[in-house]
Amino acid sequence: MDALNDLLLPPAKSTLAHQTDTLFWFVHLSSLALTIGLIAVIVYFVYKYRRKSEDEVTPLITHNNTLEVTWSVIPLILVLVVFGWGYKVFMDQQVVPDDAYEIKVTGQKWMWQFTYENGARTNGELHVPADRPIKLIMSSNDVIHSFYVPDYRLKQDVVPGQYTELWFNAKEPGESIIYCTEYCGTAHSDMLGTVVVHEQTDFKTWLAENAGGGSKPEDLAPAEWGEQLAQEYACATCHSTDGSQMTGPTWQGKFGSEEPLADGSSVTVDENYLRESILEPNAKVVQGFPAVMNTYQGQLNEEQINAIIEYIKTLK
Ligand code: CUA
Repeated sequence: MDALNDLLLPPAKSTLAHQTDTLFWFVHLSSLALTIGLIAVIVYFVYKYRRKSEDEVTPLITHNNTLEVTWSVIPLILVLVVFGWGYKVFMDQQVVPDDAYEIKVTGQKWMWQFTYENGARTNGELHVPADRPIKLIMSSNDVIHSFYVPDYRLKQDVVPGQYTELWFNAKEPGESIIYCTEYCGTAHSDMLGTVVVHEQTDFKTWLAENAGGGSKPEDLAPAEWGEQLAQEYACATCHSTDGSQMTGPTWQGKFGSEEPLADGSSVTVDENYLRESILEPNAKVVQGFPAVMNTYQGQLNEEQINAIIEYIKTLK
């Protein structure tokens, strides 16, 4: 079984992933065995009971109790086994251990945002300690997304106006990919993330260093910090910095330029326009682009917005 796993499935990196795999293989291999058995019997009977002479008459058989009970009871037992087994695996994955460490997850077109107990925030990267149950409390700022980590065999819809939960225990330090598996618009396929699993002590250090979040690291110039923020907040999913055309206008060479708007008027791209475009993205949409951007109100503070504007100014 382990060899099959290594060959065909992603690595099983959570404590429960193996349970899902074993059930998966049971269902698949028993289905395969039944299918092959059934086809073999059909082929054999077609040959054995073929018509051998012109006047041969098929005997009239009305029923066979033993056979009928057998072919009803065996599948029933199989189905009950899969049900009971599946129920156990499902409950193990649903019931969150009491000592789980809670992290808030927010889905938004098109990134994942994570908020930790001490106010630290990350975008795209979910930082967790190894060998400890983690509980994710998830909701969406816009449409339905779905949080999927193949390495943990975990998937759960992330719904606006409602909290959904997931829990896992990552066995070892390392990294795993997060996918969005509910189609959520233009950049759905770019809505990726990474689970970064730290040693427990390293996680404590990481968390302390990122406490509060949202103020400029001392060793960075505002524009450098802005570049870092633009990466963290996945701006590049829609805005290029090299002039190429994506879902949103490129940032290159835009500062100071005059841009036509959807309603036929135009706007000068200055600090005020950029700030407004971050906080109220759909107020003045540049002609030819869809009005699909979400507000970053409440997610970026003034200092961060300024830094991103400083960064855009450097993209000549
Ligand atoms: Cu979010 Cu697809």
